[in-house]
Amino acid sequence: MTDHFAPRDRPRRLRSTPAMRRLVAETRLHPAELVLPMFVREGASDPVDISSMPGVQQHSLDSFKRALSDAAAAGIGGVMLFGVPEHRDATGSGATDPDGILNVATRAAVAEVGDALVVQTDLCLDEFTDHGHCGVVDRRGRVDNDATLVRYRDMAIAQAQSGSQLLGLSGMMDGQVAAVRDILDDQGHTDTAILAYSAKYASAFYGPFREAVQSTLTGDRRSYQLDPGNAREGLRETILDTAEGADIVMVKPAMSYLDVLAETAALSDIPVWAYQVSGEYAMIEAAAANGWIDRRRAIEESVVGIRRAGADAVLTYWAVELANWLAER
Ligand code: PBG
Repeated sequence: MTDHFAPRDRPRRLRSTPAMRRLVAETRLHPAELVLPMFVREGASDPVDISSMPGVQQHSLDSFKRALSDAAAAGIGGVMLFGVPEHRDATGSGATDPDGILNVATRAAVAEVGDALVVQTDLCLDEFTDHGHCGVVDRRGRVDNDATLVRYRDMAIAQAQSGSQLLGLSGMMDGQVAAVRDILDDQGHTDTAILAYSAKYASAFYGPFREAVQSTLTGDRRSYQLDPGNAREGLRETILDTAEGADIVMVKPAMSYLDVLAETAALSDIPVWAYQVSGEYAMIEAAAANGWIDRRRAIEESVVGIRRAGADAVLTYWAVELANWLAER
């Protein structure tokens, strides 16, 4: 016996040099699997900073076009568009108006970068309603599921006509995927795809987004978004949305729901995406601004973790910056 113990198994061999680590990396990021969410504000002549999301802006149409060409140059996979309208009403009529900000922005994006990027649109009423709910509200103040589907169908047609290639159904109404697929096919938009926000949780991490879209919501979304503790129910939503005709399903938020993401990825036969939401962005930016964490490493680690858990693509506000870092290597 010596005082020296030599282990037989040495996993560190594969971590010994940068070249070896690179060779054995199990998860790699690529710009093509990153999607940038963008906000376009009606009537804005200049971009407006969003204080709770440092580095993210409500775009004017001009700054939007410049940001789109930066996004295309960075080689990301696509953009997800949100409109910030000047006027809101009970039924969210701005959402279905061809001259409403989201539809105008969609046409501009398709014209600007439609060949390079997949132009995607948020299909939900919350930015357009004066009460801030994702659907229409009945006389008793409840979000009326089936009346909302009628609005979503109209919204889908408006977005498809504007050239959106992938509709992001984020409203969490029952039957929304089937309702939208049905009208799209009926009106000849058979090539317009559906991204279903299937496992979308009622999350505190949407906080900064509410500033980004100047949400007027009072109350909460717990009668339609999922309870954070429910994984099984998230899987059920995924199964239903897939059966209704979704082309892609999504888990949202990402970092607090990696188990749901992993389980969804294990059972899904269609792509599974994740949305790294505004609060996840804000937390890392705030900690980095305080010097508490290394910003770049934290951003890369957070997105690698989401990919490792099973996301085929990630919606992240860092999409362009991350893609440019990847190109540096
Ligand atoms: C609904 C929608 C929301 C987000 C994306 N789509 C807000 C909500 O459900 O309250 C949040 C995204 C984020 O926080 O980054 N239109």
